[in-house]
Amino acid sequence: MITTAQDNAFDVVVIGGGPGGYGTALYGAAAGLSVAVVERDKVGGTCLHRGCVPAKEFLETASVVRTVAGAKEFGVQAGQPVVDFAVSQGRKQKVVEQLFKGLAGLMKGRGIVTFDGTGTLLPGRRVRVEPREGAGPSIEITGGNVVLATGSEPRTIPGFAVDGRLVLTSDEVLALDALPASLAVIGGGAIGCEFASMFSDLGSQVTVLEALPSLLTGCDSDVVSVVARSFRKRGINVHTGVTVSGHSPSGAGTTVNFGEGESVAVDAVVLSVGRRPLTQGLLAEGTGVGVDERGFVVVDEFQRSAAEGVWAVGDVVDTPQLAHVGFAEGILAIKAMLGEPAVPVEYSRVPWAIYCHPEVAFAGLTEAQAIESGIDVVVKKDPYGGNSRARILGETDGLVKVVAERLPDGRAGRILGVHMVGPWVTEQLGQGYMAVNWEATPEEIGHFIQPHPTLSEAFGETVLALTGRGLHVG
Ligand code: NAI
Repeated sequence: MITTAQDNAFDVVVIGGGPGGYGTALYGAAAGLSVAVVERDKVGGTCLHRGCVPAKEFLETASVVRTVAGAKEFGVQAGQPVVDFAVSQGRKQKVVEQLFKGLAGLMKGRGIVTFDGTGTLLPGRRVRVEPREGAGPSIEITGGNVVLATGSEPRTIPGFAVDGRLVLTSDEVLALDALPASLAVIGGGAIGCEFASMFSDLGSQVTVLEALPSLLTGCDSDVVSVVARSFRKRGINVHTGVTVSGHSPSGAGTTVNFGEGESVAVDAVVLSVGRRPLTQGLLAEGTGVGVDERGFVVVDEFQRSAAEGVWAVGDVVDTPQLAHVGFAEGILAIKAMLGEPAVPVEYSRVPWAIYCHPEVAFAGLTEAQAIESGIDVVVKKDPYGGNSRARILGETDGLVKVVAERLPDGRAGRILGVHMVGPWVTEQLGQGYMAVNWEATPEEIGHFIQPHPTLSEAFGETVLALTGRGLHVG
């Protein structure tokens, strides 16, 4: 049963309606709490409107282009694909709108009250809601608990002022209605690799400029090698270990300077150098909420801030900036608020999914991280080339890598990490994620039957081989 809010007082007030915030609200309402969400733009947040969803929709467009371009190999004459990006943009927007309507309806259906405006936390778990200019006076609402879920925004770097024409962040890229013929992507992390892959497949000439020694820092090095090789083969220029020093506009484009006197002339620059938390103006004087030097709200392992009854979830706290981590943190906060048994999020084992081509998905320790932690490991990696479904698809670039602890007798024990790169691995990670989080052994997982022929049997085969006896892989 949903309790009824009295005089703008709710059991829970959530500031921010992205995945962290709306996840908290939906779960809280499902638990019978009265919930309000304060959102100044649209519920769904960055993920739905300017992040995960639109980016993956465009990556699907890129996948269609690859399929059409490769159709001849299957005996299907389709000609060279031509992209009308305005149509692609329209389709993306339609998908986003449908999901937005669905979410807004779901929240309404659960009795969640959405306040349209900017929320500021005041002392005493009061929240001031400042409506958009001209939309009436500000109001004050109160929460038995308040959850801060204001998310993050793209980080920028000196010398690259975002103007939406020459210099773009993910916000502007996802709103483009024409394809730049060439672009420089600064930052080769998750966002940078997704954009580089997408624009290259759509026909743009792409250069990636990454400060660290490799792309996708934090991913297993065998996985990174597969992505880097694919990028190279597709003509994406990747420069790692380089610093960008600025850019000089000329004509319709600009020239980006990097490294030791190197430069590249492009139509546009995409900044994907990380995201920073949105806490400016969120906290009035005297709330007691702690914020660290980078602007993240400081919380304990149950998402509690230093102020009684004030919690924070999602990108505004310093944990992996993933929508599904925001959901998990929201669920955890509600359970902890209700005094129910609650298990903190195990951040070293959350699922990661990066949708560049080839896709990357992983959970748990990389081989290097396990070794650095002093763990003796057994590692098994198998390419997708031996998998029948991958052959059928014509998508054999990639591998499955399983990292397990080495038992005293040399056999593989607990599975510590599962790392995948290749076709549809973001949809295949489930089994690996479970194996890592259940601390399963290859013997236990190897017992399960994998449907044949599927891509997902590649993981089963690798784990079976780790028992000492493989089927298709040795
Ligand atoms: P990121 O932190 O993953 O990568 C940023 C990259 O930029 C790093 O490799 C960094 O070394 C590099 N960099 C920073 N300053 C630089 C400079 N001045 N010049 C050259 N390189 C520079 O951040 P990203 O890709 O912007 O993503 C933001 C957040 O969103 C991350 O936490 C990411 O994991 C998350 N995300 C996850 C996705 C997924 O899982 N599919 C998709 C998109 C974002």
